[in-house]
Amino acid sequence: MIHAVNLTKQFGPVTAVDRVSLDVADGEVFGFLGPNGAGKTTTVRMLASLISRTSGSAEVAGCELGKESDELRLRSRIGVLPENVGLYEATSAYQNLEYFGRLHRVEAGTLRANIERLLRMMDLWERRDAPVATFSKGMKQKVALARTLVHDPILLFLDEPTANLDPEAAKMVRDVILELKKERRTIFLNTHQLDEAQRICDRVGILRTRLITIGSPDALRTGLSGVRTVVRLDRASESVAQALRDRLHVPVEIDGDRLIVSVRDPDRQNPEIVEAVVAAGGRIREMSQLSASLEDAYLKIVRDAEASS
Ligand SMILES: Nc1ncnc2c1ncn2[C@@H]1O[C@H](COP(=O)(O)OP(=O)(O)OP(=O)(O)O)[C@@H](O)[C@H]1O
Ligand SMILES: [Mg+2]
Repeated sequence: MIHAVNLTKQFGPVTAVDRVSLDVADGEVFGFLGPNGAGKTTTVRMLASLISRTSGSAEVAGCELGKESDELRLRSRIGVLPENVGLYEATSAYQNLEYFGRLHRVEAGTLRANIERLLRMMDLWERRDAPVATFSKGMKQKVALARTLVHDPILLFLDEPTANLDPEAAKMVRDVILELKKERRTIFLNTHQLDEAQRICDRVGILRTRLITIGSPDALRTGLSGVRTVVRLDRASESVAQALRDRLHVPVEIDGDRLIVSVRDPDRQNPEIVEAVVAAGGRIREMSQLSASLEDAYLKIVRDAEASS
């Protein structure tokens, strides 16, 4: 759905985005992470053809970026939820959507059906005639999300859709995103919410002007520190720990009544851990798995990138 090669944007002397290459598959939810000023919004604006690129190339939703004859087709296939959404506050939710649908030249009957479907999906149908000014921030964000969908795009760019929302409103918006994922729309999601990224994204990329890394949230987490298996025993002794080291050749630490075993492949190694502990005379009370959060991984990756630049 997206195929970008060496995408670069310079604002005068400032390089905002430096040779970013990435692919996003059809139906994928791709999370774009990175510190403030990393170039996330700039990348999205280039991919959505809202600003020109300095160099590089991209194919987006089957359209070649910068090719004039592809421009209208691109507009009809993508939806963009910008960082700062401007809705017409004095007019109703319905009218806001109607206005945008007409801009996209959606046929009247289709537009009516789309608006009703979207407002029902957002749980706003009953409030459709109330001015947007009377809506809460979360409700406004849902109207904004509906607005990006009114022409039924296959690819969505959502720039921090849950920023500044309370936990409940953020959850409402997240649920809508999951709903859109079920509809197999491709979603490019800029976010600072790492647990959100972990929960809803198939893959994430971490940007800091350059793309530092890309992978599934799980791969980034386990790539950071591996996975650890925690074995709680009647009594954790050095002899049991040593038996584990001898058998599995992995680091084992003792922490109170627990053994903390660094493993690479828990499915394969956990049964061996059980066997080795039992053979060494240990009695297992409980076993669990520990791994770094995406936040741990993100912070480490960004700090390492800062240190090496
Ligand atoms: N129109 C512009 N003119 C000049 N510089 C710009 C412009 N837009 C963005 N920049 C610069 O480009 C860099 C990247 O900004 P961008 O908004 O893309 O970052 P971001 O990752 O979206 O940050 P945030 O997380 O704060 O939204 C920043 O240094 C910013 O100052
Ligand atoms: Mg931004």
